Amino acid sequence: MANLKFYSGEQVPLEMHKVRMVQRLNLLPVEQRKTAMEEAGFNTFLLKNRDVFMDMLTDSGVNAMSENQYAAMLQADDSYAGSETFYRLEKALSDVFGMKYYLPAHQGRACENIISNVFVKPGKTVLTNYHFTTAKAMITLYGGVVEEIVKDEGLKITSSDLFKGDIDMEKLDEAIKRLKEENIAFLRIESGTNLIGGQPVSMKNMKEVTDICKKRGIISVYDASLLADNLYFIKTRDPKYKDMSLEQISHEIAGFFDIIYFSARKLGCARGGGILTSNYDLYYKMRELVPLYEGFITYGGMSVREMEAMAVGLRETMDIDVISQTPIFVEALAHELQKKNVPIVTPPGGLGCHIDAKTFCEHLPQEQYPAGALVAAIYIASGVRLMERGTLSEQRNPDGSEVFAIMELGRMAVPKRVFTLSQIKYAADRVGWLYDNRKLIGGLKFVEEPSVLRFFFGRLESIGGWQDKIAAKFRADFGDSL
Ligand SMILES: Cc1ncc(COP(=O)(O)O)c(C=O)c1O
Repeated sequence: MANLKFYSGEQVPLEMHKVRMVQRLNLLPVEQRKTAMEEAGFNTFLLKNRDVFMDMLTDSGVNAMSENQYAAMLQADDSYAGSETFYRLEKALSDVFGMKYYLPAHQGRACENIISNVFVKPGKTVLTNYHFTTAKAMITLYGGVVEEIVKDEGLKITSSDLFKGDIDMEKLDEAIKRLKEENIAFLRIESGTNLIGGQPVSMKNMKEVTDICKKRGIISVYDASLLADNLYFIKTRDPKYKDMSLEQISHEIAGFFDIIYFSARKLGCARGGGILTSNYDLYYKMRELVPLYEGFITYGGMSVREMEAMAVGLRETMDIDVISQTPIFVEALAHELQKKNVPIVTPPGGLGCHIDAKTFCEHLPQEQYPAGALVAAIYIASGVRLMERGTLSEQRNPDGSEVFAIMELGRMAVPKRVFTLSQIKYAADRVGWLYDNRKLIGGLKFVEEPSVLRFFFGRLESIGGWQDKIAAKFRADFGDSL
């Protein structure tokens, strides 16, 4: 992606790729969108994709792949053990990160399962800049506790801080003193911190934090799922790294940590994952769980075709024109939304644009899941599917009480190279309309609530049938338009 200046002076993001394969989209009339949302239990995960116009649920496993990735899939070596595909992927990972050992796993949460199984013991704490849903679910499954020590600025909706994902050094020091090293299972830093708006972590912070881990004998773990966005922000926001290659930056990051894991549904635009380390003891402890939970250690539950695509995708992540596309589109979307006064997380991060549902739906109490209600209403208003990243995405306390999210966000993910600028503008237009009609949005309550990762398949209903009012107002304002 190039940020070019037009003759008119306008700054316009320009795609450094062309589209050579397309998928037909449907945009249903508003009445049908309302019915689809009712049938999906007001949970955007339960919508059928055929009823979705723009799928901004996630960037996970839905990024556009390159022609070279598709070509690589054809040369996959289908063997149970010792496949050439594995060695090609291992080499790509070693070129990108410079770590010695690679354990394949079928996706990010599978890596989290293995790491938590080995290192989390009942009552031990995992310190982290901020949790991710699946990481927290795995850590708590093995009896651990998650403690977040992101700096306060990271939890503010609007900020000018360029690295809101950084750990607060005083909170880290205090937590180590209070808990003692032996009670800390590991320290986890998440790149491009997902749940607080795709916010990056600075090199300085990663170095300072991991230096302390080394001194105190605490294992440091890096979740590199959102590394591509974080690399882009390091290169463009930290003058010290402006002239360094992306390979050099990722090698420097890898040098900080004991363990790196990633979801290749995000990093590398394929579907898979893995764990990396240069420490043989750590590798040895984790290795036996790969055949137990995933598959043999040269495929780890993945299709060899996806592994080939991942190897190429990882190398392409080292190209600034490739990794800049999402953050630049996210920024363009953020500007469109800001023009319509829609409250969003700033500065815009990677992965997507995050709408502040607490402000958007300030008339709704947190018990009624404002972010969940907002994303349901956006679907009805536009056919655009977002993901709730607020209280619904939390897990209840063991006593059954709600854990209210610090941030109530509606995430408009921008999968890599999938949407055009006019589609982005359409999404912003409909969200802008809904903002002007925000008082029509009502709350939600559960009718079926799973105890683990409830946001994936829990079912809800609207309080007071507010969806009818939104559909009727849309029809009145837009006439025959879809
Ligand atoms: C930061 C982060 N870590 C881990 C995961 C889990 O990865 P997966 O969905 O491949 O299991 C995700 C997925 O969205 C993520 O964003």
